[in-house]
Amino acid sequence: MSLSKAAPKTIYLKDYTPPAFTITHVDLVIELDEHVTKVSSSLKIKRQTDNGNLVYLDGEKLDLQSITLDGTLLDQQNYTLSSTGLTFAAPADEFTVEIVTLIKPQDNTELEGLYKSSGNFCTQCEAEGFRKITYYMDRPDVMARFTTKIVGDGTKYPVKLSNGNLMESGHLDDGRQYNLWVDPFPKPAYLFALVAGDLAVVEDHFVTQSGRQIKLQIFVEKGNEDKCDHAMTSLKKSMKWDEEKYGREYDLDIFMIVAVSDFNMGAMENKGLNVFNSKYVLASKETATDADFDGIESVIAHEYFHNWTGNRITCRDWFQLTLKEGLTVFRDQQFSADMNSAAVKRIEDVQRLRAAQFPEDAGPLAHPIQPQSYVEINNFYTATVYEKGAEVIRMAHTILGEENFRKGMDLYFERHDGQAVTTEEFIKALEDGSETDLSQFRNWYIQAGTPEISITDDYDEKSGSYTLRIRQDNPKAGKNAPPLHIPLKIGLLGSNGEDLIPGLDGSGTELINLKKEVEEISFHGLKERPTPSLFRGFSAPVRLRASPADDKLVTLFKNDTDLFNRWEAGQRLATQRLLQLITEKGANRLAEDFIGAFGDLLADASLEPAYKAITMSLPGEQFIGQQMSVVDVDGIHNARKEAIKTIGATYSDELMAIYEQHQNQDHNGDRSLKNMALLYLSGTEDPSILKMAREQYLTATNMTDRISALSRLVVTNHPARDECLEDFYNRWENDSLVIDKWFTLQATSSRDAALEDVSKLLGHPAFTYTNPNRVRSLIAAFASANPRHFHSRTGAGYQFLTDAIIKLNGINPQIAARLVSPLGQWRRYDDDRQTKMKDALKAILNTENISNDVYEMASKSLGDG
Ligand code: TRP
Ligand code: ZN
Repeated sequence: MSLSKAAPKTIYLKDYTPPAFTITHVDLVIELDEHVTKVSSSLKIKRQTDNGNLVYLDGEKLDLQSITLDGTLLDQQNYTLSSTGLTFAAPADEFTVEIVTLIKPQDNTELEGLYKSSGNFCTQCEAEGFRKITYYMDRPDVMARFTTKIVGDGTKYPVKLSNGNLMESGHLDDGRQYNLWVDPFPKPAYLFALVAGDLAVVEDHFVTQSGRQIKLQIFVEKGNEDKCDHAMTSLKKSMKWDEEKYGREYDLDIFMIVAVSDFNMGAMENKGLNVFNSKYVLASKETATDADFDGIESVIAHEYFHNWTGNRITCRDWFQLTLKEGLTVFRDQQFSADMNSAAVKRIEDVQRLRAAQFPEDAGPLAHPIQPQSYVEINNFYTATVYEKGAEVIRMAHTILGEENFRKGMDLYFERHDGQAVTTEEFIKALEDGSETDLSQFRNWYIQAGTPEISITDDYDEKSGSYTLRIRQDNPKAGKNAPPLHIPLKIGLLGSNGEDLIPGLDGSGTELINLKKEVEEISFHGLKERPTPSLFRGFSAPVRLRASPADDKLVTLFKNDTDLFNRWEAGQRLATQRLLQLITEKGANRLAEDFIGAFGDLLADASLEPAYKAITMSLPGEQFIGQQMSVVDVDGIHNARKEAIKTIGATYSDELMAIYEQHQNQDHNGDRSLKNMALLYLSGTEDPSILKMAREQYLTATNMTDRISALSRLVVTNHPARDECLEDFYNRWENDSLVIDKWFTLQATSSRDAALEDVSKLLGHPAFTYTNPNRVRSLIAAFASANPRHFHSRTGAGYQFLTDAIIKLNGINPQIAARLVSPLGQWRRYDDDRQTKMKDALKAILNTENISNDVYEMASKSLGDG
């Protein structure tokens, strides 16, 4: 038996073949132990295709004890073992394999497979973690019925959970306890889960539309029982919404959620047993911000919705990941829009897309929402697969319309329930269900890059016709890439801001299906030259190059009936004026049109507070950087700071009035507006305002107000800064989710000493590399949200990140790999920074025992440059 370390291998979609054998039943016995955990599995295997006689089972980092085929122990010469799997010859077309392996969950710092978090056992099997528990066909097109017997010390692990229904529990002769779980739904191994420990449970129930009562349970570490209300309410809302919106009812009699502190991602949709990062479960108004509450609502919904889009219908292979993720993100976005302000939700989703997905799509790691190849699948849980994937579903929804989209979805569920399918099968169902041709639309699945749209227009006064000439380019997709089917939602505004065209159902918005590289669209019978409102609601994930509206942004910002585009006009106007501040030397004032428009916004009493707040916010430093050919790190920071100061000084009375008016109102919209006012007021660095921020910090009754005030102080050198930071730490020392916020505040501060602060924090007793939330709160927050210091001329920011990645490569490669992407943006910076960023990537590539995860990210980021 020889174990050889395989070189990183690229997997291609074109190489997909169904396995010759499949697994129909799995019976697991997992004997949990502090030192060595024993996993015994019995697999019923069945031939599926004529393709050969070999059976291949994935397995990594396992200590194999024995294999038995139909009752006969296999000799070592009758199987081949490598570091990634096990191969043997099938004895028949149907047979049973029994395998015993040993694992050490307590030493598992990768948090993939079976591991321990705060003394409890838990699992994470997506994408390929099950192979770290036992030998198995660890691929989503192998769907089997699972039974799981969990054996362990009854006092240490009174709670023992797995998928499906609890069928039996009892004692073994040696005193250990066991629970036997049976999942009636065949599933791929990535949906397997096990949790065991001494956990508290919060219970409730939900009655489905057909009258079945479902038991709902949330398991948390003891002491956190009082922080589950919001998660439970969100779960019940999600269950109801999926019934009403999509006619989808829950299928098992029990739905469990477990909150764990050490988790690589947000949460995981394991069948009947969702495992969550505690950040997306636990909340009280003292410890969680309004944004945290919204995050919980949307992640709970996301994982719950996976039960239909992901679990009942799953992916054939990992290239199809967007089949479940893009669709489920779209569904959770729709849900959140229905529960809260739809306009604000849409703006936030587009902000996220532009901040994370646009740079990815413009850089060396660009890939279509359905990638063609990968080295490590964990690296493909990306903003493109998730967020752009959701935009693609949203476009299909726009093109088909609500009613036809639902028909397509119904057909998808009807056709494919219980199957592992491809994105092609999904599109086909939409097409057949709606009787709409989506052949050209399919190009969105295979083209990378953000399409660029250029528009010219022409108005003929005599005839009253208005013509738009629209061109689409996708430089990233190459010269011969076919044009995309792009839904353009458009409105035309008159000089008084009214909609000039009736649009669909009198909405003032028309839907135009762009299909050619260049299209001309005309509108007739217009009495004046209109101002076009383009891509209303952000109807396609494209970048709009200079458009005819550029000189009419103020009109749009004041009047657009489409609230997304109204916000968008403000952002475009602000971006242009900020870019002028940066590039036109000597221009040290913001143009008056912008200042005036900002004042009108403050005075507009018709707007919802939450919408007004988000519309007041200036485009972020990174967004502005994306608009420049070479990112001017310091110029951007200074211009933005200057703009905030100017607005704060110009409108100090109005802002103060807003601050007071929205004080003490127990509603999240009021809080965001009040705190936005505080942000501008603080920009003046007026000591009386900082005193006010200190006061807000000390007297706050909720985390939103407390942290907003503290954020204002953290960027200063005012004595209240250290005073309040210290107070914050002492107050929340024992609540790690709150302490994460304390790390992030300092990691993202723009103050001069930030880099020293961050380096010192690495040595803080509360910092640890083994907890992903903590790593994200300090290291990822610094690298992705502190452009001024991450891109410090000295290169110290890059060095800081490089050291952390090399350290994490040996602890948690998945988390290490995620930290590489900021360095992949090197092409956007000046020569000196480029050299330093590339050197950092080279140093990372030189890491001893580099993981496939980090290797793929660093080598692709470096490219051939
Ligand atoms: N399927 C999960 C979701 O989006 C994603 C996920 C959770 C995941 N944990 C993971 C992906 C670990 C890769 C590795 O809901
Ligand atoms: Zn998901």
